[in-house]
Amino acid sequence: MEKNIKFPIIDLSKLNGEERDQTMTLIDDACRKWGFFELVNHGLPYDLMDNVERMTKEHYKKHMEQKFKEMLRSKGLDTLETEVEDVDWESTFYLRHLPQSNLYDIPDMSDEYRTTMKDFGKRVEDLAEDLLDLLCENIGLEKGYLKKVFQGTKSPTFGTKVSNYPPCPKPEMIKGLRAHTDAGGLILLFQDDKVSGLQLLKDGVWVDVPPLKHSIVINLGDQLEVITNGKYKSVMHRVMTQKEGNRMSIASFYNPGSDAEISPAQSFVDKKDSKYPSFVFADYMKLYAGLKFQPKEPRFEAMKNAEAAAVLTPVAAVETF
Ligand code: OGA
Ligand code: NI
Repeated sequence: MEKNIKFPIIDLSKLNGEERDQTMTLIDDACRKWGFFELVNHGLPYDLMDNVERMTKEHYKKHMEQKFKEMLRSKGLDTLETEVEDVDWESTFYLRHLPQSNLYDIPDMSDEYRTTMKDFGKRVEDLAEDLLDLLCENIGLEKGYLKKVFQGTKSPTFGTKVSNYPPCPKPEMIKGLRAHTDAGGLILLFQDDKVSGLQLLKDGVWVDVPPLKHSIVINLGDQLEVITNGKYKSVMHRVMTQKEGNRMSIASFYNPGSDAEISPAQSFVDKKDSKYPSFVFADYMKLYAGLKFQPKEPRFEAMKNAEAAAVLTPVAAVETF
């Protein structure tokens, strides 16, 4: 119980008033100690959020629920007699906004739903960029630094994963989403305000991220840990399944572009040496694809070894996307 009380909930509107300094400190502490925080009064219009929620729930009922049930049958998950550790109990689809939108390639979305998600995506993108500048200010990087790194030569990658975590008859047998850290930059999550399930690992204990109406949960991905040379943390999290209720989650990932060069910012590194690697983001993603549900440290280690190998044996450029 006490754990939930401490979970950082931050009123972003206070940045515009006398409590700006305290609010900036709350954000900085959350980035260092939690890798997570929950924003209220973040400026996203509530009526837009309500529409996103309503249309996502309708879309699930109409176009996704049946497919989810078929998936359960085809994977033999309708009985759940033993613990399942290689599948997640989730129904998802992925909208890409940047570098190019795929919004009109996704089947079964009504025009109204597409327009609403486009508007929502743009507003979340703007919030992500504002937050990146707040992080720069807090940590002592020049304004625009993170945005510029994420830009690469063209554009950041920005997308929205639309998920539903349907009720599960035996929650102890399967996770909604297995424990992982996020590979990318900044994650902005609009989660169900009634059905809980998201937990993060803090000092060895799983802590609930409290559902709160109209909030946006922020967490930091591996790239921000690398760039800040470990001052900010990418933290393990997971989604628990529930016996009752369908949990909606709309997670937007503001990530570096494929060709973005990621490394610890020079000002944070002693004697040019860091325990964190330098790499091109697409290469990190290739590694992450196979190791998502593993701790991040071996990924950082593998990239460091790849970096050392690349210095010794230059190879021809490979096509990455
Ligand atoms: C993710 C994730 C959490 C959620 O997709 O990486 O952590 O609540 N999602 O859906
Ligand atoms: Ni995640």
